[in-house]
Amino acid sequence: MSQETPVSIDTMSDEQARLAHDELADALHAHNAAYYQDDAPMVSDAEYDALFQQLVALEAAFPELKTEDSPTQKVGAAPSQGFAKIRHAIPMLSLGNAFDDEDVAEFLTRIRRFLSIGDDEPLEIVGEPKIDGLSVSLRYEDGVFVRGATRGDGAEGEDITANLRTIHDIPEKLAGNAPGIAEIRGEVYLPKSAFRALNETQKANDAKIFANPRNAAAGSLRQLDSAITAQRPLRMFAYSWGEFSANVADSQWEFLETVSNWGFQTNPISRLCTTLEEVLRLYQDIGEQRAQLDYDIDGVVYKVNRIDLQRRLGFVSRAPRWAIAHKFPAEQATTILKGIDIQVGRTGSLTPVARLEPVTVGGVVVSNATLHNEDEIARKDVRIGDTVVIQRAGDVIPQVVRPVLEKRPQGAVPYAFPTTCPVCGSEAVRDVDEAVRRCTGGLICSAQSVERLKHFVSRNAFDIEGLGAKNITAFHEDGLVNGPADIFRLAEKRDTLLEREGWGDQSVDNLLAAIDERRRIGLDRFIYALGIRQIGQATARLLARTYGTVDAWRASMADAQDRAGEAYQDLLNIDGIGASVAEDLLAFVHEDHNRQVLDDLENLLEIEAFAAPPSDSALAGKTIVFTGTLEKMTRSEAKARAEALGAKVSGSVSSKTDLLVAGPGAGSKAKKAAELGIETIDEDGWIALSQG
Ligand code: IVH
Repeated sequence: MSQETPVSIDTMSDEQARLAHDELADALHAHNAAYYQDDAPMVSDAEYDALFQQLVALEAAFPELKTEDSPTQKVGAAPSQGFAKIRHAIPMLSLGNAFDDEDVAEFLTRIRRFLSIGDDEPLEIVGEPKIDGLSVSLRYEDGVFVRGATRGDGAEGEDITANLRTIHDIPEKLAGNAPGIAEIRGEVYLPKSAFRALNETQKANDAKIFANPRNAAAGSLRQLDSAITAQRPLRMFAYSWGEFSANVADSQWEFLETVSNWGFQTNPISRLCTTLEEVLRLYQDIGEQRAQLDYDIDGVVYKVNRIDLQRRLGFVSRAPRWAIAHKFPAEQATTILKGIDIQVGRTGSLTPVARLEPVTVGGVVVSNATLHNEDEIARKDVRIGDTVVIQRAGDVIPQVVRPVLEKRPQGAVPYAFPTTCPVCGSEAVRDVDEAVRRCTGGLICSAQSVERLKHFVSRNAFDIEGLGAKNITAFHEDGLVNGPADIFRLAEKRDTLLEREGWGDQSVDNLLAAIDERRRIGLDRFIYALGIRQIGQATARLLARTYGTVDAWRASMADAQDRAGEAYQDLLNIDGIGASVAEDLLAFVHEDHNRQVLDDLENLLEIEAFAAPPSDSALAGKTIVFTGTLEKMTRSEAKARAEALGAKVSGSVSSKTDLLVAGPGAGSKAKKAAELGIETIDEDGWIALSQG
């Protein structure tokens, strides 16, 4: 893992934090889409995890950055087309990660502290192998299997009931006495042996070869024809639950026993542990058995056994506080670096990609890897022709770790990073404090235009169904779409579209309808879609929230060109926007060409004013302060509960405080609140309020 944070989080200004957040969030959104929607990951799992952890740390230090659409708040990606969508009655969440023993120790300490459990009191933990398959949710009504779905984005998945019915480990009827509604969750996987056999058959039939068992399982489960799924010997381990109409277990261990009695498979090497040492021994044991197991695992999941404690611990953003995944280290291999390709991004950034002599790492053939940036290549001194150590975790594209110096061929020279754009030939320059080199070609660089268009139609921007990266690239190549506004004029080019290979009346109609559907767009998405440098989702949202309407935003941006004026000061006064962001923003709207694009888009679209997301909790949007001693829950539990209800928790009382929760021993804060006339309640009042 080689992610470096240029500025330490502790010393970051609000603006630096916002920038870092935007950058990380953008990267993670792109990786999510590549992984979940395109089945074409761009980075290794370890690298993804590193980025994710940085974002989590940043949001812990700057909680205001934790917006609803932050990647930390989402699991996976939105469902793909082809299956009906199912909204999960209870969201399907993800797990936080532990990478070493220390992380695990901290996890246990955190839980004890949260629940005020003393060091000498027992705390049972169930350890289960983390199956590398696909999570599914199975709904049983009166003991009969009625519906099954994939996880999707955690809130909504795909209805794959017909395919799930072909899986032997999924009982049609539950044995014994099951409650009226029972949602069982678990992991569908393809055994390694079946995977090898499947690829043999695929090869013989000249059909697609799967990279690994997980991809094969995903491909099999997402078959529109369940007869094909039926030919794949998929299996399932049950390990969790969604909605239940009655209580069936008081602990995870008991739950596993119960579902096993109902006819599900539960993992035989799971264990109930009571100490950190036992937990770590289990990790060691499972690690040693890993190669012999007939299914892929990528770590061990630890879960607080008692369900009442799980409830109290609750969730932090996308993951339960009561569980964690202890990952196995990444797998490594060596191969030859045949070349370095340079990709040009939306803002002209040049990104190096390693082209490798294909090699198998942990069962997957790998032929390219990320090299991050110019400095990274120089720091590692990776040279073309070198034998390099590469690393992958999970099933995604790996990274280059280091060259094997003993094997360096004679005459290998240090890599000279290009100083011109490989696509348009313009000069590529590097700002003093920037890690990336950028093409200066701007509008004449076709790589940048394409990347800008891809960004414009991406999932968090216009998200036009049927107009993804592939089609937009082809349309651009053929001159059908030169800039974003052309997308909304495609109806005029219906005939040209129809001439394209693979397009017919139906598909063209569908595309045009999907485009029409997106003519209405929220201001925040609109600003984000423009792909202005440094304006990621969070900043776009800030701008939308501040200015409200597209007209107000554009008028203020025009006024703000006067750096001595009030509008410029107003822009800088937005918490999270500093001079550097302001300059990029103002430079964008200053350019005639960009203003023309904005005019065009405004004529073609209906850009909706920004509206804050509604919440039905009475505490939503309120600022709460806790003071004094709480006796029935810890401060962190109270804070978590408040935040879950949409409230902000602050450390000090001010005129902005809406509510003070004061336990015994409350001092100056209670006094100040009384002076300011702020509503004050005690712990029981708080419990009633937060539960009601
Ligand atoms: S428990 C609320 N247990 O790992 C917690 N998950 O990274 C629900 N997974 O989405 C998850 N084996 O797809 C749990 N024994 C296990 C698991 C497991 C594999 C997967 C599951 C989950 C993902 C989280």
